[in-house]
Amino acid sequence: MNMTEVMKARHSVRQYIDKPLSKDVISALQKEIDACNKESGLNIQLVINEPKAFDGFMAHYGKFSGVTNYIAMIGEKNASLDEKCGYYGERLVLLAQQLGLNTCWVAMTYSKIKTAFEVRRGEKLCVVIALGYGKTQGVMHKSKKVEDVVKAEGALPEWFKKGVEAALLAPTAMNQQKFLFSLKDNRVSVKAGHGFYTKMDLGIVKYHFEIGAGNNGWKWNQ
Ligand SMILES: Cc1cc2nc3c(=O)[nH]c(=O)nc-3n(C[C@H](O)[C@H](O)[C@H](O)COP(=O)(O)O)c2cc1C
Repeated sequence: MNMTEVMKARHSVRQYIDKPLSKDVISALQKEIDACNKESGLNIQLVINEPKAFDGFMAHYGKFSGVTNYIAMIGEKNASLDEKCGYYGERLVLLAQQLGLNTCWVAMTYSKIKTAFEVRRGEKLCVVIALGYGKTQGVMHKSKKVEDVVKAEGALPEWFKKGVEAALLAPTAMNQQKFLFSLKDNRVSVKAGHGFYTKMDLGIVKYHFEIGAGNNGWKWNQ
């Protein structure tokens, strides 16, 4: 599967079967988490065989079942933390998809089990990513169109359109897709709209855009 196919195949899955992650899968995830932590300075942690976070009222209300593994997105509190968690978390989500797993970003509908991970002084747990073998593969979300999320004049270059199409495949909190891309002289800007978790969504969407647009001589404007 190429990365576009991986992005298309990924959907949020909230119900999982009772099948443990193999040693190989765990080590592949851990290797990528280590790489993300090194690159970003985040303190992302893999939590395995921990059923309590998704066993409370909120999780059942949120229709989660069988979740015993998740990634805790933790980092130093600062203005860029949410966006960083989005960007590196989505890198891990797409790796998990390639490894045959299913995932769901979860900001609200879980309980924080403090003994399951370590939050150092000055750090914060932003969000978790549930993962495991889904009962189903999920379904494609309803999506805005390219023209709804782009502010541009004239024809769009193919690489830019592909980037925005990839961004529209990305998960966003409550499927809000509140972002706006623009292009000037091969410089791409993307701004988050107002709402919950839109900065985290921005990081996720930027990761997708980079994959979709490929290396075609463009740069981020910020
Ligand atoms: C930052 C973020 C937070 C989310 N929080 C929750 C949550 O608390 N509970 C939940 O059930 N889904 C949550 N989701 C999943 C979204 O509802 C889902 O990604 C969106 O509806 C799009 O569907 P898709 O992921 O299948 O493409 C979250 C997604 C993101 C990106």
